[in-house]
Amino acid sequence: MCGIIAGVSGHDVTGTLLEGLKRLEYRGYDSAGLALIDEQGEILRKRSTGRVKALQDEVTSDVRVRGNIGIAHTRWATHGKPTKQNAHPHICNETVALVHNGIIENHEALRASQEKMGYRFTSNTDTEVIVHQVHSNLEHSADLFSALQQTIKELEGAYSLAVISNLEPDCLVVARQGSPLVIGLCEGENFIASDVAALLTKTREFIFLEDGDVACITADNVRIVDTNGKQVDRQVHHSRLNSDSVELGEYRHYMLKEIYEQPTAAADTLEGRLSGNRLLAATFGHEADEIFDSITSVQIIACGTSYHAGLVARHWLEEFAGVATSVEVASEFRYRSHVVPENCLVISISQSGETADTLAALKYAKEIGFQHSLCICNVAESSLTRESDMVLLTHAGPEIGVASTKAFTTQLIALMQVVIALGQRNSMTHEQEERIVRELRSLPVKIAEALELDTEITVIAEKFAHKKHALFLGRGTHFPIAMEGALKLKEISYIHAEAYPAGELKHGPLALIDNEVPVIAVAPNNELLQKLKSNIQEVRARGGELIVFADPATGFKEKDGLTVIEVAPVDDIIAPIIFTIPLQLLAYRVALIKGTDVDKPRNLAKSVTVE
Ligand code: AGP
Repeated sequence: MCGIIAGVSGHDVTGTLLEGLKRLEYRGYDSAGLALIDEQGEILRKRSTGRVKALQDEVTSDVRVRGNIGIAHTRWATHGKPTKQNAHPHICNETVALVHNGIIENHEALRASQEKMGYRFTSNTDTEVIVHQVHSNLEHSADLFSALQQTIKELEGAYSLAVISNLEPDCLVVARQGSPLVIGLCEGENFIASDVAALLTKTREFIFLEDGDVACITADNVRIVDTNGKQVDRQVHHSRLNSDSVELGEYRHYMLKEIYEQPTAAADTLEGRLSGNRLLAATFGHEADEIFDSITSVQIIACGTSYHAGLVARHWLEEFAGVATSVEVASEFRYRSHVVPENCLVISISQSGETADTLAALKYAKEIGFQHSLCICNVAESSLTRESDMVLLTHAGPEIGVASTKAFTTQLIALMQVVIALGQRNSMTHEQEERIVRELRSLPVKIAEALELDTEITVIAEKFAHKKHALFLGRGTHFPIAMEGALKLKEISYIHAEAYPAGELKHGPLALIDNEVPVIAVAPNNELLQKLKSNIQEVRARGGELIVFADPATGFKEKDGLTVIEVAPVDDIIAPIIFTIPLQLLAYRVALIKGTDVDKPRNLAKSVTVE
């Protein structure tokens, strides 16, 4: 999704803005642009389609492009094609320039009235109405800050905005509603961005704006008013991240780096939460005890990979904690009626904490009477964490690759901690808790072992690169793992991949099987093994090409049309986490052969901040 960076300083900010745009590239975009106020007091704009590199080349080849105040943007097209004309910043009457992340829902009505007022439109975006509205309001306002406060009262939808005007060349004004925005505090200069990653080379001191906030930022001051126009002090947070956390290092892609970071991410997500063979009660904060004591059911809401984590957790919550659990894709949950159960805990799961559908679903759940909420999230100061009663962080570190990897496995680890916390109050025995904790502790080592399959998988990947379709099979907790494997493959290699619970094959998908459609099965050694074997026979009997990721004890033997990749034996409890690793590697290796843009696959964005 769109990324914003802007700043005001005692010296030229162009380099910082371009560097910040590069750090925002992972969010997904199709054009980029920046605007500065130059020494003559004029707004200077550069825009280009494609990569930030193209913008950078244009900027560096023009010596005039310098300024102590500026705004910059990567655009992920929603309204209007990814053209130069639609790229941000948008400018009104050479006086006001603006960048925007989000969607303005009443843009058509605003456009109609602005056209009557004589404003001329140069783009097909929803954004352009905002810059004209600020310009129009500026005529009747004391300053740009008041003009923006007035403007946001007239906007419907979601936005983070950064605005400059050559009438007030020392002041950057910003606003936030539904889309993320942070202020990075520096010595003699200040910046804003869509996320901290963009500013880590400049500072580690951040203010996270809240919905409805508008801020006026100069090189040495930050003034914030809330939704009622009242001046407020927002807490300054010190980020634990440093700029290296978002560097690629020795790796070719962020996705590969993040896959290999999973042993550490797992250890970090367990750190400080276990003592001996028990989960520490303090893991969820002091208010959690009372809430957990009352919980009789769970409703999980999430999107994409995070939704798959929720599907695995449903099995665990019902089996080990004895708590009835429903899981729903957030974009569906928010648009239907619900019978709200009493004492139900809503668990939202999100890597970014900014996914618009998940956030809206949580707000909706609270509105219709769900009383308690817990958020499992990788970003401490995100919109979702602020909206939730309790927060359990996954300490995966920044995830830059669009395809989620370490976020998923750490979500599963965090969810297992929820399972223990609820289980302790219900049917879970001490022995079960001890077993789960022991297995969780073994994860960093077992994940590292699973990563050793990479070489074998690199060879298998060759079989895939020319295929157009693939089918993933799993049963029980491994059906969501098959779904996750299929999602990984399709999003980065563009091979059409679907996942089925293996028992469903004969109810339709078996018709697809021939030697052009590889079938990937996830085969741990559990009580569903014999059933899975029968399903696999159904595929073999129809000439299908099978690749089975199997525990050695399952007894699968390589033969024509059947490739077996042995995954070291693990306890059933952590098997879904371990079997995820080879599927991530498979998707990565296939994408590498196909030469796709692994970290920034076409049409996708990292943080989906629009509906
Ligand atoms: C995963 O590989 C995806 N890119 C996507 O499905 C993602 O998991 C989804 O958009 C949810 O994001 P979130 O976890 O940040 O809420």
